[in-house]
Amino acid sequence: MIFISTTLVSGWMLFSSCNSSSVAGKLQDPISIDASNGQSPKEEASLNMISSANPDATKTKTTEDLLAAFKGETNASAKYAAYSKKAEQEGFHSIAMLFKAASTAEKIHATNHKAVLEESGIKTPSVKPEFTVKSTKENLEDAIKGETYEATTMYPDFLKDAEADGNQLAMISLNYAFKTEQKHRAMYENALTALENKTVKSLSSVYYVCPTCGNTYDKAPTKRCGICMTGTEKFIRINTL
Ligand SMILES: [Fe+2]
Ligand SMILES: [Fe+2]
Repeated sequence: MIFISTTLVSGWMLFSSCNSSSVAGKLQDPISIDASNGQSPKEEASLNMISSANPDATKTKTTEDLLAAFKGETNASAKYAAYSKKAEQEGFHSIAMLFKAASTAEKIHATNHKAVLEESGIKTPSVKPEFTVKSTKENLEDAIKGETYEATTMYPDFLKDAEADGNQLAMISLNYAFKTEQKHRAMYENALTALENKTVKSLSSVYYVCPTCGNTYDKAPTKRCGICMTGTEKFIRINTL
């Protein structure tokens, strides 16, 4: 189990908003400077923390993993958007909404992975999505297969690599996706059961997606995201196609 502190989360959010050459300048504003050496102990500690959070990642297994995850999430986002349209065509509106919510979440994961790669000076390639749209039942089965792989194999392995590489930013981004994919798998399994039992109309038609981590809820969440603690007033409400 990987614990992500709120300090790390807020540190990551600050760090991801600026490139490494401007980090020191941005951090100096709230930190008092000791005139004797030009750098306070607090500032020095902050810079050391950032340095350790951004190792030379250009040759690590973690950056290979992040590139693979970025491609996978980008493809999944496009695929689920297409599955959403197909579900609506087949008259399964609530399943169309679920696919749209998951598509939104996967885009957030891809954007997070891209931000971590860019902090290491690595550009992400353009991705040409590849998938086949079948019936909604088959699309749900495909989605469950994909989420199961990500939640039980891919992200656990990638998290181990990131921990071994000491890449804390990658650990945060990968953990956000890892936790969310577990929820997506359960939601897709629930939807498939409803489809088979002809109870699709009992499913939610409104979803809420955390803009920070992609966490997905099928009913209004309480005060904070259960994965990253973002205030739920910032969540993306998915209620139209
Ligand atoms: Fe997912
Ligand atoms: Fe979140």
